[in-house]
Amino acid sequence: MDLGLKDAHVVLVGASRGIGRAAARKFAADGAKLALIARNLKGLEKTAAQCRELGSPEVLCFAADMVSSADIDAAFAAIGEAWGSINVLINNAANSVGTHGAFEKFTDEAVYTEAYDRIALGYVRTTRAALPYMKKAEWGRIVNVSTTSTASASPMLHVYNMTKAALVSMSYANAKEFAPLGILVNVLSPGSIMVEGGNWGEVINSYFAKTGLDPNSPYDALKMQSQMFGDGAGEAVWTKRIGYVDEYGAAIAWLGCKANSYMTGANVNVDGGSNFKG
Ligand SMILES: NC(=O)c1ccc[n+]([C@@H]2O[C@H](COP(=O)([O-])OP(=O)(O)OC[C@H]3O[C@@H](n4cnc5c(N)ncnc54)[C@H](OP(=O)(O)O)[C@@H]3O)[C@@H](O)[C@H]2O)c1
Repeated sequence: MDLGLKDAHVVLVGASRGIGRAAARKFAADGAKLALIARNLKGLEKTAAQCRELGSPEVLCFAADMVSSADIDAAFAAIGEAWGSINVLINNAANSVGTHGAFEKFTDEAVYTEAYDRIALGYVRTTRAALPYMKKAEWGRIVNVSTTSTASASPMLHVYNMTKAALVSMSYANAKEFAPLGILVNVLSPGSIMVEGGNWGEVINSYFAKTGLDPNSPYDALKMQSQMFGDGAGEAVWTKRIGYVDEYGAAIAWLGCKANSYMTGANVNVDGGSNFKG
């Protein structure tokens, strides 16, 4: 199927590893031009090399921190100068460091405001910076990556979930506001994923080390989920295995492609069925 991505101008924020890298590879294989953003240039360059090999005609890398409007504005100004317009914005970056824990653990309000600044306001900054260039393009798509856990009662994740729920609300409003501009906005909410590195990678790897479960087994990963989050979190996954980054990358590429021409304002769970509500 032709996704209509050949030579499309695609910006991926949070592309130095994990789901963002997997999504970049998918867009590259469909012939899109890519601008990759994250803090770690080395990770971005690794993604870029893979994308060039897969057939992307142009890959640009920008080291920028989402908490800094100056960083984000500078990266988008450079992208605008190079391309003149942007078709696709993938907001995937998130840093959940220090946000895991039960309610009473957090007596310092700075934990909440800093997490909100990093995640929710980070997505505001990139969207604000991209919009003038998206308005110049013939078609536009925004995909904001949230999490299925915003809709679950997960005490250990409440700080992170509050920030991710905020960007879901922003996405609904943006979808309505930007539809007349030809820009469709959707949310992709992943369930649990096998990831190398990253914050979540560190959290789960230390758990695997403690319990003797096998981090390379998608089945053990489900057991880890249930043990960490309780209430049958692992058993609830219909596919009986955890997801892989490439499966999320493919879903992001679909939401962010030209062929997806009528879907907007949706929050799509990619979670092996674990959050089915009927
Ligand atoms: N993994 C899961 O199980 C899971 C489940 C549900 C939802 N999600 C969501 O899916 C998305 C990707 O998750 P992942 O597991 O692939 O995460 P990851 O491996 O930790 O990657 C996160 C990406 O975001 C970038 N990033 C983080 N903080 C940033 C900042 N302040 N400024 C710029 N870039 C920043 C990171 O690059 P640098 O460190 O180089 O900046 C990296 O490229 C996230 O939004 C996450 O919340 C993940």
